[in-house]
Amino acid sequence: MIHIKTQVGIIGAGPSGMVLANWLRKHGIDAAIIELRSREYVEGRVRAGLVEQNTKDILKELGLDARMKKEGIVHDGVYLSFDEERVHIPFGELTGGRTITIYGQQEITKDLTDAWLQEGGELHFETRATKIVDFDTKRPKIHFEKDGEEGILECDFVAACDGFHGIGRKTLPKKSFQSYDITYPFSWLGILANVEPSTDELIYAYHENGFALHSLRSETVSRLYVQVDNDESVDNWSDDRIWSELSKRLATPGWELKEGPIVEKGITPMRSHMIDSLRSGRLLLAGDAAHIVPPTGGKGMNLAIADVKHMVDAFVAYYKTNSETLLDTYTNDALRRIWRAQDFSNFMTKLFHKQDAHGSFTYRLQKAKFDYLKVSRAYKTTIAENYVGLPFESFKN
Ligand code: FAD
Ligand code: DHB
Repeated sequence: MIHIKTQVGIIGAGPSGMVLANWLRKHGIDAAIIELRSREYVEGRVRAGLVEQNTKDILKELGLDARMKKEGIVHDGVYLSFDEERVHIPFGELTGGRTITIYGQQEITKDLTDAWLQEGGELHFETRATKIVDFDTKRPKIHFEKDGEEGILECDFVAACDGFHGIGRKTLPKKSFQSYDITYPFSWLGILANVEPSTDELIYAYHENGFALHSLRSETVSRLYVQVDNDESVDNWSDDRIWSELSKRLATPGWELKEGPIVEKGITPMRSHMIDSLRSGRLLLAGDAAHIVPPTGGKGMNLAIADVKHMVDAFVAYYKTNSETLLDTYTNDALRRIWRAQDFSNFMTKLFHKQDAHGSFTYRLQKAKFDYLKVSRAYKTTIAENYVGLPFESFKN
């Protein structure tokens, strides 16, 4: 039997778990992390790439932004396209200088994991948390399995940063929260391609064939997505078919999409999931463990890291001043931003995806929104400030 003791026991070494561990260490609070997958798997997982201003500021405050500053690409705007007509939303001008940075989620996780391990942080890969017990007492415990051996991580608090399929949410007492679920009737087929991006800033596009997004990772790597049916298989999508759909859906007069070798393909379902309580006793949830947003707008990882900010504030108040006030307000402090992001992600999803026949009432409403944003600085500002992420101060009461 392995026995570990720490102050904060963290399940999950994704962005939320790794930001939490590094941030707590900065405040002199001990933590230990348990991660189901191998280090190679976690660091190789291609996921989000859009880093909001708040996330960037947090990584800077932690002193862990050196590589992102060097390799990340700052974007001061985004293109929104509808039926081949493209509009630019300038972030800085509309939001008082806030921007986004393109830098892969797995690169952030790599930087945070390196920093944590370099200074001797405790992190157990390929270790499954199986049970969380005694979280209604002052000494909760995480039971785990590592290499066939059982273990117990004994701590003051459990931070479940274990994603949508983790055990954190399943452990919350059923009566302590209400959940909300929406499954969208479409998915994203995402590709990574070794080709120079055909755009300087991201393009979100509605087209009668469906949604498309042009993102990127570097000067030589593009990341693109197309809307597909929920029951689609990547096998039905040859490279030629993908490029041909992307060219059509992202088209605007005088612009051409560069094609290149596709090095990765995957399908992501689209759902919204929420619970309205993130804490029970000494068990606290952060990130995908508590909420999922559809990816349109790139909020998932940023929300996960925003939850952690509130969690760190609560733990610091507890350990430095023995106050439980911020533990008590953790759920509400985090929920205000989460609901805002749920609404924005839902809005972006509905604006740019094909939901009904081209020309239908739903289509006409989508087009009316787009026509309005073309002429309204106020509407553009609403989109810009949500897209770059509202400052933490905006959600204080
Ligand atoms: P995760 O990154 O999921 O980390 C949770 C960790 O917990 C995992 O490493 C997991 O292995 C570990 N774990 C789970 N169960 C256990 C257990 N029992 N014991 C120990 N460890 C456990 N967001 C965007 O904004 N844009 C995108 O393009 C985008 N694409 C995505 C594509 C996919 C396929 C997925 C799944 C998500 C995508 N997201 C995207 C969402 C974004 O990546 C997540 O919001 C983000 O990863 C949340 O971070 P997290 O730390 O909360 O959870
Ligand atoms: C990316 C993903 C998103 O969901 C998004 O809205 C923007 C960019 C990306 O993977 O780069």
